[in-house]
Formats: sequence, C-alpha cells, structure tokens
Amino acid sequence: MIPFNLTTVNEFDFEYLYKNIEFKEKLKEKFHREFNIKNSYFTTSCSSALDMAAEIIEINPGDEVILPSYTYVTTAMGFVKRGAKLIFADISEDNFVMDFEDVKRKITSKTKAIVPVHYAGISMDMDPLVELANSEKIYVIEDAAQGVDAQYKDSYLGTIGDMGTYSFHYTKNISCGEGGALLLNNSKLEDKANVVFEKGTDRHSFIKGITDKYSWVGLGGSYEMSEYLMAILLGQMDKKEMIMKERKRVYDYYQVLLDKEIQYKKPVIPEYSKSNYHIFPILLKSEEIRNEIIFKMKEEGIHTTFHYQPLHLSQFGKRKGYQQFELPMTEKISKQIIRLPIYPDLKDEQIEFISETLNKIILGGK
Ligand SMILES: Cc1ncc(COP(=O)(O)O)c(C=O)c1O
Repeated sequence: MIPFNLTTVNEFDFEYLYKNIEFKEKLKEKFHREFNIKNSYFTTSCSSALDMAAEIIEINPGDEVILPSYTYVTTAMGFVKRGAKLIFADISEDNFVMDFEDVKRKITSKTKAIVPVHYAGISMDMDPLVELANSEKIYVIEDAAQGVDAQYKDSYLGTIGDMGTYSFHYTKNISCGEGGALLLNNSKLEDKANVVFEKGTDRHSFIKGITDKYSWVGLGGSYEMSEYLMAILLGQMDKKEMIMKERKRVYDYYQVLLDKEIQYKKPVIPEYSKSNYHIFPILLKSEEIRNEIIFKMKEEGIHTTFHYQPLHLSQFGKRKGYQQFELPMTEKISKQIIRLPIYPDLKDEQIEFISETLNKIILGGK
C-alpha cells in the first residue's frame, strides 16, 4: 500500500535531544532568522495557537469573525468557545482560499477578526486584505497551519497579519508529531500574549526581572510545546531545504504524468505566491466519481483522501444555524476534491504508478 503520508522524522532528528543543548532559544532563533519572524510562542498544536489568538484579542459574545467554512474545525473553535458569531465567506475557484469580495461584503461594525486560511500553502492576496482590515480596525489572524515555509510576495505566511499560526502535526511539511506556533506580529498584543501563554500569570515579567514574584493576573492556559518536541523540530528545520525540494519534485512529476484532462481543475499558484507544495489536490467531476476513485485507488494499493467537510454544514454548524450561509464554491470543492500522496520519500516509480492508475481509472479505455 502506498500510504497517504510518511513523516521525514528519523533518528537524526533526535540528535539535538542527545546533545542536550538549549533547544528553546535555538529553535526560536532559527525560526525567526529563517522566516523573518518578530515574536513567537511554540505551542502544543496549531489548534492551541488559534485558541491563544482568540484569547489575546479578547473575543466576547456578539463579536463577529469572518473565516472560510472550507477549513479544519479548530480555525473556528477558539472564537466559538468565547461566544463569537462565525461569518463564513466562500472560497475562490482558482485556488480554494477565501474570496476577497465575499469577505468585503460580510464586514460589519461587529467584525473583530478575519481569519484567512492559507490552503495548501497558498495565500489570499494579503495586501488588500490587510489594508481593508487596518482601515476598519479588524484583526487579521492567518491560519498558516499548512503554510510553513510558503510565501506571499517577500513575506513568509504567518508573518503578515496581526498574528499567524503554524502546525507541526505529523502530516505537515515540517513536523514534530504534534505541535504548533503562534507568530505575534503586532507588538501591541505582546503583554496580553505573554500572560495568556504563561497560564494567566505575569511570569514573563518575573523572568525578565521586572517583578520579584509572579501570580495570577488574567486568563491563560497551558499552551507551551514540550522541550523534547522542540529538539525534534530543530532537527526538522535542518532538513527544510531537502523537504521543499523533494515535495516540489513529486508535485512537478505529477503534473507531467497526469493526463491534462484530469488536471483541468487544480489550484492555481498565483504570481504573488511561493508554494510549499504541501498538498496535491485535483477536482473531479462529481462527488460520486470522487468517492469511486478513492475506493478504486485503494483497491490498487494507493491511499488517497479528501477534506474538508464544510463547517457550516457540519452537525455542530447546523445546530448553530450556520447552514443558512450560501457557499456554493465551498460545497462544490469539498465534494469533488481528491488529494494524492505527496512526501519526500515518495519514489519516482510510485509517482508513476499512482499517475498511471489514476489516468486509467478516470479515462478508462481512452
Ligand atoms: C487549516 C488548518 N488549521 C488548523 C489545523 C490544526 O492543526 P493542529 O493539528 O496542529 O492543531 C489544521 C490541521 O490540519 C488545518 O489544516
């Protein structure tokens, strides 16, 4: 069976752990240097980084948050938990990220945050979005779970809005099994972020020598990534170039081998974007065909998959009345998408086998 994903974590990634160096400082320093990050908090997951973000901007009942429905549940969770009303915007057919015109239409006086999700490491056109959000005093929180090492113009994803979040889950390009980070780009939020990260205490001031003890000063949680995982993540960062190069090899080879008719609808990587080749998605003609192809590929020993179940049509979303949102592109893409295996260890022969099998199944006797 060709698995859908294989991690690049191996014994070499544990080297830092054995060397017993100062992982935390070294990790921060490395990420900041490589991705031009101002300030960061390494967390247990991207989900917990998003939860932190909602706490930092003090989401209150009645606040509105604009986000795509075509995303993972935890893009929404932190906001919903604090009483926000989710306002779902549709995605663009070109690259499956939020449609700027729909976002614009949905802004009201209650909008507190906009959360662009950088699907497959491709971003929206961020300049107009940030300009609009700034003029309306709305926070921009980038869900860059899939966007580590990808760029919008000269900026790394996650460093453009007020905050950005990363995932290092085992399915991601750079991984430590489970992990994430919150990038803090708006320094006005720093004091609050320090308290939230330090479990609701002013320990940060204590460590800096500003106070002689620390105590409970606000809301917070236990968000910090284990130092052991930091050591592994540091090892992964040493392989960043290899990971990107190999994922691009797989991506490009699929493009050569898959019949053009099959690739008629694939997210377009815009001029302003530098992808990290996180996902190789294609759209099939209907949900029935998509499901049949996943089944037939499995019979041939190839694991393919799909996502996301739109949040507004989920069991919880319906209970909240969110099914009233009309999001035709979200529904179409979630029904018709298929994702092919893409990871550095995928051999050329395997890519050839996957492509030939898919060509044969879809195009039949052609
Ligand atoms: C867009 C998006 N946001 C958030 C997450 C959550 O990431 P994590 O598993 O690190 O919590 C994911 C996970 O795949 C995701 O795809």
